[in-house]
Amino acid sequence: MADKKEIKNGSSGMQSEIIEAQNGSREIKNGSSASPLFEIKKITKVYGEKVKTQVLHGVDLILEKKEFVSIIGPSGCGKTTLLNILGTLDGATSGEIIFQGRNLTSMNPDELADFRNRNLGFIFQFHHLLPEFTALENVLIPTWIMDKRSNMKHRERAEFLLETVGLKEQMNKKSTDLSGGQQQRVAIARALINSPQIIFADEPTGNLDTESTNQAYELFRKINSELETTMLIVTHDSGLAARCDRVIKMKDGRVERDCRTDVVECIEF
Ligand SMILES: Nc1ncnc2c1ncn2[C@@H]1O[C@H](COP(=O)(O)OP(=O)(O)OP(=O)(O)O)[C@@H](O)[C@H]1O
Ligand SMILES: [Mg+2]
Repeated sequence: MADKKEIKNGSSGMQSEIIEAQNGSREIKNGSSASPLFEIKKITKVYGEKVKTQVLHGVDLILEKKEFVSIIGPSGCGKTTLLNILGTLDGATSGEIIFQGRNLTSMNPDELADFRNRNLGFIFQFHHLLPEFTALENVLIPTWIMDKRSNMKHRERAEFLLETVGLKEQMNKKSTDLSGGQQQRVAIARALINSPQIIFADEPTGNLDTESTNQAYELFRKINSELETTMLIVTHDSGLAARCDRVIKMKDGRVERDCRTDVVECIEF
């Protein structure tokens, strides 16, 4: 028997419903009738041809627009695999991925690449900035892929984003002349250049000290509230996860828990 509780969705203010099963597992059902940003259904992932290793075992997940969500769980439980599948960087073995009502599973590689460039942004633990380019040029690189040549509109946006991440004065410095925290902020600006609807961040603060981690978190919040970008952050930092609005805890390729941090019981994840 399921025990139902009404809660408020902290990020969007929508009414949601937590369904708590007797075994303690919880499911969040959103009351919104509009299509969710992302909906994944029964995603599995098996690596290997001869020796097969199943890493994801039927993951179901709904992400609403403007949510601020973290994914946590032990090393090897499938967090990056799930993020890469959601980000269309890797294919699922089975299951469906639906983005605002469009089924991504049926798209060919060219369509997926175009979709990815227009809608998704990525931030990784290692920021992968190109060392021979300035901060501004690094932020502009994704626009070169879309439009072949950069133009003034992109340049203005890149400057605006570098200002937003607090690097107005450093935008013409080479990326190698910036600190680790500053380089990660360039990577955050780069992820935003094509105005993505969602940012996937895989351990974005894994390499940063406490102060730079706090700055990055504040920046994610600002991006989420001002640019209305959905944030999905994989992290090993339980302090960072606790400051997100929703925490998805994975274990052995499954979602073990999914809860909102404004619910008291969620604190003990
Ligand atoms: N390309 C691959 N080929 C084979 N196995 C893989 C591949 N990528 C990941 N795996 C395996 O899948 C499992 C899940 O890996 P994944 O990188 O998703 O874990 P994770 O939760 O992100 O871990 P971490 O917290 O250490 O980053 C691991 O056992 C890993 O060894
Ligand atoms: Mg990982």
